[in-house]
Amino acid sequence: MNQLLPSPNGNFAIADRPIFPLNYSTDNSLLLSLILPTYQERDNIQKIIIILANLLDDVIAGKYELIVVDDNSPDRTWEVASKMTEEYPQLQVMRRIEEKGLSTAVIRGWQAARGEFLGVIDADLQHPPETLLKLLAEMGRGADLAVASRHVLGGGVSDWSVSRRFLSRGAQMLGLIILPGAIGRLSDPMSGYFMVRRDAIINVPLSPIGYKILIEVVARGKIRWIAEVGYVFQERKSGASKVTKKQYIEYIQHLLRLRFSLWPVARFIRFGLVGFSGVFVDMAILYLLRDILSLGLTRSLIISAEAAIINNFFWNDLWTFRDISQQQKGTGQRLKRLLKFNLICLAGVVIKVFLANILFNFLGFNEYLSNLIAIAVVTFWNFWFNLKLSWRVTSVD
Ligand code: GDD
Ligand code: MN
Repeated sequence: MNQLLPSPNGNFAIADRPIFPLNYSTDNSLLLSLILPTYQERDNIQKIIIILANLLDDVIAGKYELIVVDDNSPDRTWEVASKMTEEYPQLQVMRRIEEKGLSTAVIRGWQAARGEFLGVIDADLQHPPETLLKLLAEMGRGADLAVASRHVLGGGVSDWSVSRRFLSRGAQMLGLIILPGAIGRLSDPMSGYFMVRRDAIINVPLSPIGYKILIEVVARGKIRWIAEVGYVFQERKSGASKVTKKQYIEYIQHLLRLRFSLWPVARFIRFGLVGFSGVFVDMAILYLLRDILSLGLTRSLIISAEAAIINNFFWNDLWTFRDISQQQKGTGQRLKRLLKFNLICLAGVVIKVFLANILFNFLGFNEYLSNLIAIAVVTFWNFWFNLKLSWRVTSVD
C-alpha cells in the first residue's frame, strides 16, 4: 500500500503554507493544487486522473499536484487512486475516516496543498477536463478566482429535465435574496469547478457545512477579480450523484449562516447603545435650554438634537468603529467623519419625520407606534450609511 496523505484536523482556515511541509517532497511550492473530492467513484477515478495528468503535463509539468480526498468510500476509491501514485508522483490521496462531506473534503485537501492556485473539480467526469486550461489561463492573467460556469457563453447543461433546471435556478434565486453581495457576483454560484488564488483565502475561517464551497470562498475571501469560463455539465456515465434533499436544506442553512456572520451584529448593537445614550443627552440639553435658559422651543430642539448627534459621534468613533477610526488618525480625518455622520443623521431625521407622518396619517397607526417604527427604520439607515460612508476603510486593498 502506498503512503496516504494524512487528513488535517482542527479549524478550517487555509494557512500560507501546506500543513505537512517537507513530508512528501522538498518542493513546497507549486503553481496548482487540484482537489478531486470523491465518494464512491471507483469507476471514474482512474480515467480522470489519466486525463488530468496528460492535460496538465503539456502545460505545467512538474508544477502541479492532484489530491484525491476520499471519504473512506465503501467501494475503496481511495485504494484505486493510491495504487496510481507510483506511476503518477504528482498524485496524492487522502483517505478521511473521521470527517465527511464535500465542503470539508475540499478544505482539508487545500490545507495539505502546496499550490499558489487552489482548485477543485468533480471526479465523475461531469466537469470537462479541458476547461481546466482556460481556468488556468484566467488565473495567469491575474484573476483571484476563475470559475467554470454553465451560464456564460459556451456553457450549459446536457439534458436536464425542466424540474432540475428549475430547482437549480431556484437555489440561485434564493441565494440572491439572502446574500446578494456574494451570489450576485457569480453567474453560476452552484459551480464546484473553480480555482482560487491561495493569497485570497489565507487565514480566512471557512465554514465546513454545505456542499457549495464556492459561495464560502466568494463571501469570505478577498476576491477582487472573478473570471468565468463557460462549460457544459456532462451527464454521468458511472456511479450516482450524492445530492439528496439534505443538501438543499444544508444549502439554505449555509446561506443564512453566512448572512449572519457577515452582518456586523456586534457593531450594530454598540451603535444602538450609543444611539440610546443620545436620547438622554438630547433630553438633558432640552431641559437646560428650555427650563433654565428659557430659550424658544424650535431653537432648543435643534440645539439639543445637534448635541445628541455630536455625543453619538464621539462614542461611535471611540467605541463602535474604534478599529476603523484608529486607522484614520488626525483631526482633519475625524472632522471629516463628524461631518459625514452629521449629514447622514440629519437626513435620517428628515426620513423619520416623513415616515412617521405617512404611518400616522395614511396608514392609521397611532402616533407613538408610528414614531417607534420610524426610529427603528432610521436606526438601520443611520447604521448602514455611516458604516459604508463615514467609517469606511478607505485604503484600497
Ligand atoms: N470526499 C467527498 N465527500 N466527496 C464527495 C462527497 C462527500 O461527502 N459528496 C460528493 N462528493 C464528490 C463526488 O464523488 C463527485 O466527485 C463530486 O463530489 C460531486 O458530487 P456529485 O454527487 O456528483 O454532485 P453533482 O453531480 O450533483 O454536481 C453538482 O454539484 C457539484 C459539486 O458542487 C453540480 O452543481 C456541479 O457543478 C458541482 O460541481
Ligand atoms: Mn456529479
